[in-house]
Amino acid sequence: MAKLAIYPGSFDPVTLGHVDIVKRSLTIFDEVIVLIAESAQKKSLFNVGERRELLQEAFKKEKRVTLDTWKGLLMDYAAQKKACAIIRGLRAVSDFEYEFQMAAMNKRLNRKIDTFFMMTSEDYYFVSSHLVREVAKLGGALKNIVPPHVEKKLKEKFRQ
Ligand code: PNS
Repeated sequence: MAKLAIYPGSFDPVTLGHVDIVKRSLTIFDEVIVLIAESAQKKSLFNVGERRELLQEAFKKEKRVTLDTWKGLLMDYAAQKKACAIIRGLRAVSDFEYEFQMAAMNKRLNRKIDTFFMMTSEDYYFVSSHLVREVAKLGGALKNIVPPHVEKKLKEKFRQ
């Protein structure tokens, strides 16, 4: 049976850190679903449709990657898809507490599905969508931090 993993997140917007995690995940799992988990609490820069388009372009060559969006519990989605794993990237110790709690809660919700953490590559350990949005807003360059089409879209967004 194909090993399917879910890579959930806000992806507001997708960064090269995210792309790196997905590519490395494909060396372990047969298929990866990149899942835009919609959050009512978080105010986003890009709407879900825009985030999906940016992800689509980023992974257009990866035949084993599919995209989806979801408003409910991540573990309900994962069970419905018969996924065996959740993937999350870890950049620094500061990520750990939040990720540890989320993984523990998810495990409580469904014992059959494990969370797998991947250390972010050294090129991207400082990259977060939050900082990307801030740098873009203030006119900074984001080459080698986000894919070129994302940088272009960010420039357009803040020119409006
Ligand atoms: O990129 P982010 O914002 O750090 O991703 C967080 C995300 C989307 C993975 C998390 O908020 C999530 O799983 N949301 C779906 C709703 C859910 O299942 N919440 C309970 C988590 S224990």
